[in-house]
Amino acid sequence: MTRHFLTLNDLTPNECRDLLARASELKALQRSGIAHANFPGKVLAMIFAKASTRTRVSFEAGMVQLGGSALFLSSADTQLGRGEPIEDSARVISSMVDLVMIRTFAHSDVERFAAHSQVPVINGLTDDFHPCQLLADMQTWFEHRGDIAGRRVCWLGDGNNMCQSYMNAAKLLDFELIIACPEGYEPAGDLLAQNGDRVRIVHDPKDAVQGCHLLVTDVWASMGQEQEQNIRARAMAPFQLNADLLARAESDALYMHCLPAHRGEEISAELMDASGSVIWEEAENRLHAQKALMELLLK
Ligand code: CP
Ligand code: NVA
Repeated sequence: MTRHFLTLNDLTPNECRDLLARASELKALQRSGIAHANFPGKVLAMIFAKASTRTRVSFEAGMVQLGGSALFLSSADTQLGRGEPIEDSARVISSMVDLVMIRTFAHSDVERFAAHSQVPVINGLTDDFHPCQLLADMQTWFEHRGDIAGRRVCWLGDGNNMCQSYMNAAKLLDFELIIACPEGYEPAGDLLAQNGDRVRIVHDPKDAVQGCHLLVTDVWASMGQEQEQNIRARAMAPFQLNADLLARAESDALYMHCLPAHRGEEISAELMDASGSVIWEEAENRLHAQKALMELLLK
């Protein structure tokens, strides 16, 4: 059976820890200029129905560093954008390449593609999940603090695709997740019900961050929600990641943002550029973590 990476649930805890360790190894190789082109001739197709900087650059550069190459396919410029069925596209594209990465709206579209693909499919972000970003976030945590099992993480803001991937990560890697969101912006109820032993909602951000070792936020209006920007900004203003909230967390707490960020909205400008921030490493680790992921799927 073809192996896919559509959510973090596609990894076992041991596989995930091995992958994070390999990601750090690949980072060291890359930094030392030691070649690791172990997959010559392999081709990754990258299908984008939404904008991207990090995901595109990290997958494309990563595949080249592994010895292969990557194709950028914007949905708008392929027959997918003109209504060719996802199932037909999957059958054809997967007959010509070794891996497929998809960034799109409905999570079910990625599932449908995967069900008809002969090669592994990677979720590069859907409306519901962003598992590749979690690999980079967890790599960043592990590099600074070791294993995350038993730690307490606070998600601040919208109960969005990133938040829902943190819920999966809490289960996979055994940490506690406090979700600080306004009423009406909670993550999906079924995910909350499934993860009730590790995840809880606290609507007061000042209470939520207490005892937390990691604070994480993301934009208040995700791609596709731009028209709700103003109403969301009003609801989420008290959840801004800033020096005041950080001071209420554990004294050595780290904080992350998957980027792109809006300085002065979900994160204060001074925290974005503070010397203790791990946000820029988090972004770089997309490259290393996804190379480890592609190695796993290509093996
Ligand atoms: N964090 C992230 O996925 O960034 P891009 O939208 O730039 O790919
Ligand atoms: N939640 C954001 C993440 C961007 C990487 C979005 O979906 O737009």
